[in-house]
Formats: sequence, structure tokens, C-alpha cells
Amino acid sequence: MNQLILEQVKDLAFTAGKILREHLHDDFSIEYKGEIDLITDADRASEDFLIRAITTLYPQHAILTEEGGKLGDPGSEFLWVIDPLDGTTNFAHRLPYFSVSIALLKNTEPVIGVVYNPIADEMFAAEYGCGAWLNDHPIRVSKTANLKTSLLCTGFPYDMQLKQNNIANYARLVVQTQGVLRLGSAALDLCYVACGRFDGFWEFHLKPWDMAAGALVVAEAGGTLSGITKPQFDLHAGEIAASNGLIHQALLNELNA
Ligand code: IPD
Ligand code: CA
Ligand code: CA
Repeated sequence: MNQLILEQVKDLAFTAGKILREHLHDDFSIEYKGEIDLITDADRASEDFLIRAITTLYPQHAILTEEGGKLGDPGSEFLWVIDPLDGTTNFAHRLPYFSVSIALLKNTEPVIGVVYNPIADEMFAAEYGCGAWLNDHPIRVSKTANLKTSLLCTGFPYDMQLKQNNIANYARLVVQTQGVLRLGSAALDLCYVACGRFDGFWEFHLKPWDMAAGALVVAEAGGTLSGITKPQFDLHAGEIAASNGLIHQALLNELNA
């Protein structure tokens, strides 16, 4: 049953990704939601497509999207959590690292997660209890056992005036590891942990649509998820630490030092 939905979701992500790719090669307009936080035509076009498609396929389900907020039946046990373009700043600079992120939650637990990078044509997918895949090949987290030989990734909030702007953590970890990258699409960053390209990732001030799909991909690839200041990972708490498991405690120790 879920396998069928997973294939549908991959098709949706592929088509939304094609929309983003087409916009990237055309002119697109940029609007500012905040001082740095922006939105383009591509965010809107991808989101419109996904909302229309999911509402047609599953009219009884609820949907939560970045731009549109909550739609559909609030009493439904199924909730789609969607970021139609994760990595808008990269997109606006025509930097080819961004994604479409789609998760399906049943009774608040992610059961399907799909993250698609339309430029690299990389489709990350996971189904609860069944595994995680990159372009249909099973993926696993890395085996790196210490911070010294780890390559990490993180992100920073749009509003750098926030108390937890992550700069001090970055400074502490960048000198203890092989590097800490900031690539700019949290959904894709998480999938890079899942397939072993990164050994760990953390970020504060994220939204459910940044994390829902990627977190399931990490968990199903054998990775470890947690909060940073709180022990448990909570989709609505804004913070996430994700790793191959082997470096998790060392990473948390540094983030809470
Ligand atoms: C952003 C990206 C980025 C992260 C930001 C998010 P958006 O999402 O995931 O990597 O650092 O905190 O807001 O705005 O490009 O969808
Ligand atoms: Ca996002
Ligand atoms: Ca977005």
C-alpha cells in the first residue's frame, strides 16, 4: 500500500522538480518575505502543482506547506508536509543545490519521505520500516567513528540577530573536523547524511517542512536523530541533530559545550 504511495510521491517530486528546473533557466521574480528570506515564482509554481495534485489524489487528507500553510481536513489522520523549494536562496542565485521535499505523516509520524534534487537528478526516498534509497538503490549512513575524520554540514537562520545563530557552534566544530559545510537546503543536507556523504548535520530554527522527509530518510538509512538542547527529535521543535550514530554523542557534546 505505502509502496504504491511512495511511487506516486516520487512522480510528484519529479514533476515539481521539473517545474523548478524550467524556472531556473527562465527569468523569475524574487520577492522578500523578510530582510533576507525570499520567495520566487518557482516556489509558488511548484507548490501550486503539488497542492493541486495531492488534493486530487487524496481529497480527504490535510496538507501543510511552507507558503500556503494548513489546508484540507484538520481532523485527518494523514498530513502531507511539503517544502516546494528547499534552498530558495541558492535557487535565486542559480546555484544548483536545492530540492523538493515531500513527507506523508500518519498520526503525526512520518511514513513516507521524498527529497528530489532536479539538477543532479537525485531522488532520495524512504518508507517507514522498509529502508531508504537514492535513485532506487538502498543507502546507508557512513561508518566514520570520530569527529576528527568527519565531514559535517549545518545551516544558519535567515535572521542572524537570533540568540542561537549557530556561529559559535560552527567555530567550535570547524576546527575539530574535516570541515563543516553550509550548503543551503536542509532537506538535501539530511539526505547527504543518509547516503554517507556527510557524517552529521545540525541546525536550529528549522520548520517541519525542512525536516520531515529528510529525517525519515536518515532514520531509514540507519542514522540517528535527536534534538540539540532536547534529547528527542521533534518535528515541531525547530532543532535537529542527525548523524551516522557513531559520532552522535560527540557532536551533541560540542553543540552543548
Ligand atoms: C531554508 C533551507 C536552508 C536552511 C534555512 C531554511 P528555504 O529553507 O533549508 O538550508 O538553512 O533555515 O529556511 O527557505 O530555502 O525553503
Ligand atoms: Ca525550507
Ligand atoms: Ca522553501
